[in-house]
Amino acid sequence: MTYAMVTGATGVLGTAFCRELAARGYGLFITGRSIEKLAALKAALTAEYPSANVDLYAADLSDAESRKALYSAAGKYAFGMLVNVAGADIQKPFSEYDEDKIAFQARACFEGAVSACAFALAHRDKSLKIINISSLCAEQPVPYFALYSAAKSALTTFSVALSKETEGTGVTVTCIEPGSVLTRPDIKEYISALGFWARKSAKTPGFVVEKSLKAAEKGKRKCIPGALNRLFLFFSRIAPRGIRLSYLARTRKNVRKDVF
Ligand SMILES: NC(=O)c1ccc[n+]([C@@H]2O[C@H](COP(=O)([O-])OP(=O)(O)OC[C@H]3O[C@@H](n4cnc5c(N)ncnc54)[C@H](OP(=O)(O)O)[C@@H]3O)[C@@H](O)[C@H]2O)c1
Repeated sequence: MTYAMVTGATGVLGTAFCRELAARGYGLFITGRSIEKLAALKAALTAEYPSANVDLYAADLSDAESRKALYSAAGKYAFGMLVNVAGADIQKPFSEYDEDKIAFQARACFEGAVSACAFALAHRDKSLKIINISSLCAEQPVPYFALYSAAKSALTTFSVALSKETEGTGVTVTCIEPGSVLTRPDIKEYISALGFWARKSAKTPGFVVEKSLKAAEKGKRKCIPGALNRLFLFFSRIAPRGIRLSYLARTRKNVRKDVF
């Protein structure tokens, strides 16, 4: 049986990955910070897929000691897949951050994912597919979402560079840059308030999972799910930076998202 480690498994997108991987016959090692949420997810997965092997460990990926404990629990497996879904989309003016919030978001979005990649490379099966969930926000600096867009940009850069380093070793690294995904209720509400084109380009978690797994199967370095998202990116690249920044600042200025 091929084992997949899924970080951020208890989130909406993470759960969708778990369901699809269980349906495809993968054994699952799921992680998130809450043992209760992990136990509930394991129960739901094994009810839906009785033959699924699901192991779990609660850990905070923004904390090095917690990561060590996670890796010690997961060290008995050889992984054929790592899906780094965990991330913290805290969104507010940077002036409202404190030291703890800065460290938490930077580590949850970037350091934790990089560290999990190192672990999976050291505990890999004959082959290993790494999927790192970044964001379309990685492609441009986003005012009022500055730390998130910077951390996701770092994750994209890291993933693409690593994909070259691992070429020919049986390891592929695929970075996914979703635009809006209809996940948590607050995110759905936000997408709806952004207007017609945001609603039109938003994707379901199932769509993102399918495109991500297909891209990983093909060994692609990077994938932006959804033709409209790729089109928006094309036009945003040809627009002058000042106009782009003003547009993004206007649409984000009054948004406060801090559920972590
Ligand atoms: N929704 C979108 O529109 C969108 C668009 C582009 C990219 N993304 C990315 O997609 C991923 C999933 O997003 P989602 O919308 O499904 O969000 P979500 O439901 O809030 O899921 C986030 C997951 O990350 C875990 N997590 C957060 N901080 C963690 C930490 N320090 N250590 C371990 N686990 C941690 C959470 O688990 P616990 O809270 O239980 O610890 C949860 O399982 C994120 O990386 C996000 O940046 C989302």
